[in-house]
Amino acid sequence: QSILKTTLIGSDIQYYTELESTNNTAREIALGALEGTVVLAETQKNGRGRMGSEWQSVPGGLWLSLILKPSIPLESLSKITLVAGIAVTNALRAVDVDAHIKWPNDVLVRGRKICGILTEVSAEIGKVDYVVLGIGINVNVKLSDLNEDIRRNSTSVSNEIGKPLDRTSFLASLLYELEQQYIRFKTRQFAEIVDEWINLSDTIGRNVRVRTPAMLIEGKAVGITEKGALVVLDKNDKKHKIIAGNCRYAD
Ligand code: BTN
Repeated sequence: QSILKTTLIGSDIQYYTELESTNNTAREIALGALEGTVVLAETQKNGRGRMGSEWQSVPGGLWLSLILKPSIPLESLSKITLVAGIAVTNALRAVDVDAHIKWPNDVLVRGRKICGILTEVSAEIGKVDYVVLGIGINVNVKLSDLNEDIRRNSTSVSNEIGKPLDRTSFLASLLYELEQQYIRFKTRQFAEIVDEWINLSDTIGRNVRVRTPAMLIEGKAVGITEKGALVVLDKNDKKHKIIAGNCRYAD
């Protein structure tokens, strides 16, 4: 009867034709919601991206937010973000889309963005109450529906494989990947996750320009720490460990 192969992720799926933002709705219901609840909308009127940017959420995409309730300290949050990037990338590769993660968690195909992830958290005294993992994937998005400046750096699954993809079965496989990665995150060493992340990413070894609220760091991305921070070596061989920021490839 069900195409879902998960027990936790997707334990409750709330479907809307239109929302302001699935992250907003997920945050409103999070405290009383089951862990693994998914909020899904066909379109968003006010989809939000990282660092206050707009996220264009036109028909054909997969716009969803996942409510998680891990008992972790706030400082482990960036690890969950890396875990989500792995899950999306695996789900895309399973449908023959050559996806790579750009730190921290953009998913790119041929250098163009196909997915963005917005992690939001509610925490008290440094302990996480809930995490809302917002995932936007351009599945059957027509690039002509996007604003010109967004279109230039974007792609979609249908654009890559030349035909529309069945979104229901893709969603089922994405939720399965998310569950596998989340279980691993809770039960295994983080080093294992870092290894897989590095394998799926094209950031390590690249020259990058990372903007944090405090500064701009330029140098070569050389690794990920046990806390999930990006390590950048600048031209004076000084090591920077960056827990959150906006990354651009410099070459
Ligand atoms: C980014 O790359 O800037 C993050 C984009 C995140 C978009 C998703 S779509 C579902 C969820 N709801 C939102 O308002 N944003 C996220």
